[in-house]
Amino acid sequence: MWKKILAVLVGLVIGYWLYDDFDPETLNAKRVVITGASTGIGEQIAYHYARFGAKILITARREEVLKQVVDRCRQVGSTEGQYEYITADMSDMSATQNVIREATRRLGGIDILVLNHITVMPLGEWKGTPQNLSSLQHIFDVNFRAYVHLTSHAFSELEKTSGSVIVVSSFAGKVSIPFVAPYSASKFALDGFFSALRQELRMKNCDISITLCIIGLVGTDNALSKLMEFRQDFLLSVMKPATPTDTALAIVKGGQRRVREIYYPYLDVRIPYLLRDWLPNAIESVTRYISTPSHYKR
Ligand SMILES: *[C@@H]1O[C@H](CO)[C@@H](O)[C@H](O)[C@H]1NC(C)=O
Repeated sequence: MWKKILAVLVGLVIGYWLYDDFDPETLNAKRVVITGASTGIGEQIAYHYARFGAKILITARREEVLKQVVDRCRQVGSTEGQYEYITADMSDMSATQNVIREATRRLGGIDILVLNHITVMPLGEWKGTPQNLSSLQHIFDVNFRAYVHLTSHAFSELEKTSGSVIVVSSFAGKVSIPFVAPYSASKFALDGFFSALRQELRMKNCDISITLCIIGLVGTDNALSKLMEFRQDFLLSVMKPATPTDTALAIVKGGQRRVREIYYPYLDVRIPYLLRDWLPNAIESVTRYISTPSHYKR
């Protein structure tokens, strides 16, 4: 009897794991805005949408790089695809309005808003220095306020299309990590804001989906060079970074499925998060141990 029940349970779990209701067809001709799309995960997100036949407007600060990404989108995309870029500095809130206005004008509307940009991640101890305090302001403007502003300006367009907002967050937005206190705080703030907004939308039957993406260690050039610079040799030796392209695909799928949260790589991120409230001291010890730079005493 118990063996049968166990077999059924195991079957269900495996079935759930293998089940993939991602439907790429529905992304064809969708109008997608992607921020922070010049490198890393954002760049790969653009290529995936291009392959699935979407119309895209990407944004970042550097025009030269955006042009290259647009060219590559054209190569991997379909002939009916449309690939646009606009430069914007996300610490400037008026730029967020301009991005949405231009996207609406050029693409004729917005179906999916992918919020992915971050400012260069400051890795280091919080010492309360004037430098720390002024970078705090900048980090919150770029990593948090710009996300809220972009979503707000895109609201009426997304409402018309029953669209989706995809918020790229981080493991550090669920479990606090030393040496990235302001970054971690800005990602926690996204969870607080967008999870509240999701409920308000639900209450008024507004059909805009919000997908929060909890992303673990990803081997983007920016992340790896920062970690190396900060002597995170031990972390890099125990954790295998996910590739930017696989991570980007998981994000695109989660948005298409309109799920509330995705975790990637699933187990790396999900398990410590589940244990966070049950075994806080243990989780914090492990986090501290792993993230101690090699020139500190472990
Ligand atoms: C805080 O400031 C100090 C020196 O001013 C710097 O070394 C450290 O990296 C800064 N920490 C963060 C998180 O910005």
